[in-house]
Amino acid sequence: MIILDGKKISQEIKKEITETVKSIVAAGKPAPHLAAILVGNDGASETYVGHKEKDCHEVGFRSTVLRFPDSISQEELLSEIVRLNNDDDITGLIVQLPLPKHISEKDVIETINPQKDVDGFHPVNVGKMVSGIPSFVSATPDGIIELMKRYNIETAGKNCVILGRSNIVGRPMANLLSQKAYPGDCTVTICHSRSKNIKEICAAADIIVAALGVPEFLTADMVKDGAVVIDVGITRVKADNKSGFRLVGDVKFDEVSIKTSYITPVPGGVGPMTRVALLKNTLKSYELKNN
Ligand code: GUN
Repeated sequence: MIILDGKKISQEIKKEITETVKSIVAAGKPAPHLAAILVGNDGASETYVGHKEKDCHEVGFRSTVLRFPDSISQEELLSEIVRLNNDDDITGLIVQLPLPKHISEKDVIETINPQKDVDGFHPVNVGKMVSGIPSFVSATPDGIIELMKRYNIETAGKNCVILGRSNIVGRPMANLLSQKAYPGDCTVTICHSRSKNIKEICAAADIIVAALGVPEFLTADMVKDGAVVIDVGITRVKADNKSGFRLVGDVKFDEVSIKTSYITPVPGGVGPMTRVALLKNTLKSYELKNN
């Protein structure tokens, strides 16, 4: 069994990005600049945006976080997005989700200039991705594809099961793995809360991507020998240790890992690859504009 070391691979990619940024700056050009909008005080969102800021600084990008209170109106938020769309100094723009209930996520996403949409959430980018046209792909599926590529995992003709049908992970993942490409060329099945016979479907899979957000959902009896297992889940569960919690994926790692050919750990698998995918998209946005 081989552990898919997302932490190590993400560090390699960050090194590559850092080198590119160094040559941009050495040529007298400004470094790429990511703007993140954060509305309200959601703890998880604060953490994610903090990580994004730290990652930007690590590779030499500029980073600006714009914070707004929960009380901001949709109109005010949309006009802030338009201002950043029109600001030539901003390379990429993300609005951290979720947003307060009175603000439409759809309206917000559709207001972001698709060329600055480094989250890959805008329907123009989703449409391009589905059509196989180069685009910004959302970070988690993009990170998983990159991880498979760097480990030369065989995908052509494989039966792949995606657990979860979210717009930002499950559905783009299914789409990418079914495309005529490498990684891709898979026969893909998406399972979700209304699916029947999930156990049997998983047991026939060569590749399983678990993205349900249900801790330890995937157990050994659902996995065939030699399968590749990618775990997108990361949930804090109470534990009898110093921190009082531990991070648990959607896969029951101890019993499943024994049966697999490749598996991602939690933490240190998909998470770091997701983080670095946003940096890759930001650099891509910069290069598309400046080349
Ligand atoms: N909330 C959870 N994941 C994401 C993400 O990838 N991007 C944004 N903007 N918000 C999120």
